[in-house]
Amino acid sequence: MVRARRQSAATRAAIHADLVNAARLAFAAVLLAVASATAGAADSALSQLDEQCLACHSSAGLEMKLANGDKLSLQVDAAAFAKSVHSAIGCAVCHASTSFENHPPVKTKIAGSREYSLAQTKVCESCHAPVFKQYEGSIHAALVRDGNPGAPICTDCHSPHAVMAKAAFDAASGAPCSNCHYPIYTAYAGSVHGQAAMACSSCHNAHDVSAAAKGDRLKSACLGCHQDALAAHKTWLPNAGRHFDAVSCPACHSPKAKRKVDLRLYDNAAQQRVAEKEGVPQFESRARLADAKGTGLDAMALQSLLRGFNQEGTDGKTTLRGRLEVSTGVEAHQLVRSAEAVRDCAKCHQQGADPFQSVTVSIVGADGRPVRYGAKPEVLNSIISVDSVGGFYAIGGTRIKLLDWLLALAVLGGIGAPLGHLTLNWLFKRYAKRIGGKEDS
Ligand code: HEC
Ligand code: HEC
Ligand code: HEC
Ligand code: HEC
Ligand code: HEC
Ligand code: HEC
Ligand code: HEC
Ligand code: HEC
Ligand code: HEC
Repeated sequence: MVRARRQSAATRAAIHADLVNAARLAFAAVLLAVASATAGAADSALSQLDEQCLACHSSAGLEMKLANGDKLSLQVDAAAFAKSVHSAIGCAVCHASTSFENHPPVKTKIAGSREYSLAQTKVCESCHAPVFKQYEGSIHAALVRDGNPGAPICTDCHSPHAVMAKAAFDAASGAPCSNCHYPIYTAYAGSVHGQAAMACSSCHNAHDVSAAAKGDRLKSACLGCHQDALAAHKTWLPNAGRHFDAVSCPACHSPKAKRKVDLRLYDNAAQQRVAEKEGVPQFESRARLADAKGTGLDAMALQSLLRGFNQEGTDGKTTLRGRLEVSTGVEAHQLVRSAEAVRDCAKCHQQGADPFQSVTVSIVGADGRPVRYGAKPEVLNSIISVDSVGGFYAIGGTRIKLLDWLLALAVLGGIGAPLGHLTLNWLFKRYAKRIGGKEDS
């Protein structure tokens, strides 16, 4: 501070004069975007003005106390900035909202460091509008809007004064995602993809990251790279397409995972999962009301929960769609070589099979992430829930001696043989009709 106060009037005047041109500089930067696209990594000598800023701001220990008591370090790494993609833009263009007349001190009160970051990163939008727009649609941005202090904004993933080119990201380190999703990163690092040094963004994207359970995006990402996967599965898995819909890829490709069934509230009219109405979360409270004993929804309770969702103008359109998936995000990333994947039909199609012992019912929450409520495994078999749970109930259930028998046959007979395969498919279809499940494939 002492040092700061000694800033000469001449320096201040120089800073100020240069800042008058800030708006023009900003425009120049846009031109620069075009220019540098061809020039590549431009030579990055710092401008005179930037040198002046850095004369103070490269010193260690320079910091500022904020209204909430946070300390904001004001040190900027000059060498890193000089090497960054933004070195040619210069300090003042991004800090146009800082008044440099008589700088320092800073006149406007800064509430806290998160508030400061939130306000400052708006500047990124002015030059990177398309990326900003993608980001705005992400789960991360939704969490920020909800006030989640741990959710990333631009500068949590791009160090504000050392922004590197896209090509400089080191996929193997998992950065920047690994800074916050460390357990997933460690699981991922040992997986087939982690070993191939693939970035998190190859499946999740970097900016429009969506909730994992939302839509089919992740599955489409898998199939985008593994285009012949469906055909390859068809050679040994009857109704492979149906399995791809009802079983998540990691449920078979992360063989050590604990598997479970999620029954998703589904709006048949709109052809999508039911989402909480904006601002009025009801699912959990309704589920709790239906589950008076608090031991998990039984068949009756599930029925009454569904009735509730069918009353509000959607009449009879809300059903449940089952999906077999892994229990945790960590497990979803432990994908192994396909030779070790789950192939044994009996892992799922057997009386009392493990995955069917753990059941949740879910709806899409306000931020896009699912809200889940526990249910009793019996809902998959109960006659009461047959209508709502569709054909899904039967698969690991207890009343399906015929299916068990067919599967035993399938395993014994070796399902690779095309003839056996066709016969089995036919038998399975008949079976599906008999039990009254909606057979739609
Ligand atoms: C003479 C030393 C000095 C110079 C030169 C200087 N600063 Fe500062 N700067 C400070 C000090 C000290 C503070 C903290 C002020 C306070 O505590 O009120 C500060 C705060 C800031 C802040 C944080 C608060 C805010 O308004 O966002 C930014 C950003 C900043 N300076 C940018 C710059 C830029 C850009 C330049 C060059 C155009 C510059 N500074 C030149 C000393 C300096
Ligand atoms: C591309 C835009 C951009 C450029 C160029 C830029 N800054 Fe910043 N600066 C930011 C953003 C955004 C923040 C808010 C950081 C955050 O979110 O934590 C910031 C924060 C700061 C702070 C507050 C301390 C901190 O790190 O949060 C200081 C001081 C500062 N900048 C100084 C400078 C100086 C000096 C230069 C030139 C050498 C410079 N900035 C160049 C965007 C920029
Ligand atoms: C969750 C982390 C994360 C956040 C938040 C984030 N980025 Fe990125 N960004 C990345 C990663 C990782 C890359 C590298 C490219 C890739 O993997 O697709 C990247 C690449 C970029 C690129 C160059 C490539 C491109 O897609 O055009 C720009 C520009 C960019 N980010 C700007 C921004 C801006 C502006 C924001 C804030 C609106 C932002 N980023 C927020 C992680 C993030
Ligand atoms: C004044 C305009 C301007 C502002 C403000 C700005 N950038 Fe940039 N940004 C650029 C230019 C120009 C480039 C260089 C483009 C190129 O090389 O193709 C660039 C490049 C990038 C890249 C690398 C792009 C690539 O294709 O590899 C990233 C990442 C990035 N900016 C992120 C940010 C973030 C984050 C912020 C906010 C802290 C920000 N930018 C603010 C103009 C700006
Ligand atoms: C090969 C594609 C792929 C890659 C690469 C990938 N993921 Fe995932 N990710 C998935 C799938 C699939 C799911 C689970 C979707 C489901 O079935 O619910 C998931 C789920 C998640 C979730 C939500 C977990 C939860 O609790 O529900 C997070 C967070 C996540 N991934 C982060 C990451 C991070 C961080 C990386 C990089 C270290 C990464 N992912 C790399 C495919 C991928
Ligand atoms: C600054 C911390 C931070 C960074 C960096 C970050 N995330 Fe997140 N992310 C969060 C938080 C907080 C949540 C919400 C809590 C949760 O689900 O773990 C979240 C949620 C997610 C989700 C949704 C989880 C779900 O339940 O469906 C995915 C997917 C995800 N992040 C992927 C990524 C990817 C990919 C990157 C890197 C490009 C990344 N994250 C970088 C903090 C971060
Ligand atoms: C019912 C369990 C199961 C499901 C569901 C499943 N897989 Fe597989 N997958 C396997 C098994 C077992 C193999 C190995 C087959 C073999 O080697 O004969 C395999 C092989 C593969 C292979 C390597 C074979 C190739 O060349 O295509 C890829 C890639 C693959 N699966 C991707 C996926 C994707 C993507 C999904 C989700 C859309 C998925 N799998 C769903 C069990 C499954
Ligand atoms: C960006 C492209 C890409 C995406 C997206 C992708 N993969 Fe991969 N996958 C690869 C590459 C590359 C390998 C490594 C191939 C190798 O080493 O033989 C691989 C390997 C695999 C293997 C092992 C194959 C074998 O022969 O043992 C499986 C299984 C697999 N991926 C499944 C998935 C699943 C499931 C998803 C979605 C959650 C997915 N992949 C998303 C590119 C991708
Ligand atoms: C990881 C668990 C899992 C494995 C392994 C598995 N399946 Fe399935 N399978 C399911 C689930 C879940 C369904 C329910 C689909 C539905 O109701 O929509 C299903 C459905 C079926 C159907 C009925 C399809 C239809 O049209 O309704 C047949 C037939 C079938 N599986 C045969 C097999 C055979 C044969 C194998 C071994 C080669 C096998 N499955 C391996 C989970 C699995």
